[in-house]
Amino acid sequence: TPKEKDEVTVRTPVNIAVIKYWGKRDEKLNLPLHSSLSVNLSMDSMYTETSARKSKDTVFCINGKIEVPTKRFDRLINKIRADHPESNVDITTHNTFPTAAGLASSASGYAALACALKLLYPTSGNVSELARLGSGSACRSTAGGFVLWEKGVEEGGKDSVSRQLYSEDHWPELRILVCVVCKDEKAVPSTAGMQSTVQTSSLMKHRVLHVQQRIEQITEAIRLRDFPKFGEITMRDSNEMHAVCLDTYPPIAYLNDTSHQIIRSVHEYNSEKGEVRAAYTFDAGPNAVLFCEEKDLFEIRDRIKSKFCGEGGRVSELVECKIGCGPML
Ligand code: PMV
Repeated sequence: TPKEKDEVTVRTPVNIAVIKYWGKRDEKLNLPLHSSLSVNLSMDSMYTETSARKSKDTVFCINGKIEVPTKRFDRLINKIRADHPESNVDITTHNTFPTAAGLASSASGYAALACALKLLYPTSGNVSELARLGSGSACRSTAGGFVLWEKGVEEGGKDSVSRQLYSEDHWPELRILVCVVCKDEKAVPSTAGMQSTVQTSSLMKHRVLHVQQRIEQITEAIRLRDFPKFGEITMRDSNEMHAVCLDTYPPIAYLNDTSHQIIRSVHEYNSEKGEVRAAYTFDAGPNAVLFCEEKDLFEIRDRIKSKFCGEGGRVSELVECKIGCGPML
């Protein structure tokens, strides 16, 4: 909305990339080496909620604790201050899920901040550009459904923005099962990991050459709601991202034994069925995100529950979602 407000509260979704973003060509502006594609999770259980109010000083409260604003936060507020020099905000934000555990908290977090700041202080430019300054993947949480973040070619990043490919209503049967394996903060933050991969992995050079083709193939699979194709590309891309992490020197291993057992279990399930009916993807951490269609959800969830949950289980929580919409005011 173009009308300036004094106080806003926004809710933003977590997005999970099916074609991963891994590698920057510009670290200050978070410009990626290649495009990426994600889906938003419905906001019934996982989201960020951020309230922002114009104020005399800038105060930043995350999950109930006052925090010193991060460098990334400064990038966003400084961009706003270029047009509104006096801007100060009192911000309260919380995630309904563990922060910094490879569950895309920075994505929904910075998307919420960007939306809130943009509503308080209307500025020119795309809200996804502002979110991207906080965290690259955050730009994909500023639209709903299936979202493409185009890498862009301009130096200043004006064309490195996200856009919706298909809305959340496009594939109503699609379900997402988040398997929480570990709630600890990740050992290697994604920015440091990406930097190290870009500097040392030769496999990364190969990845950059064919990611675009994969994006076109998965876009077509989404258009046709072709789960076996969608699932296979999703798994292959996650595997490739973790392969370039292992090809980094020294290697970066985000997956743990449980992650590998979940991978095996998904492939076993698919070979029993004779086609891809379940797919996994992993971000910078051991937590698995599974995709399937509604008709297979109960069976897949029961299998995960019986193998990995319960007393002494290695999966502490299972969260079921649908494809979700974009930010809500
Ligand atoms: O936006 P960042 O810097 O937190 O990077 C996120 C990278 C991955 O989550 C591993 C992949 C992705 O595309 O979301």
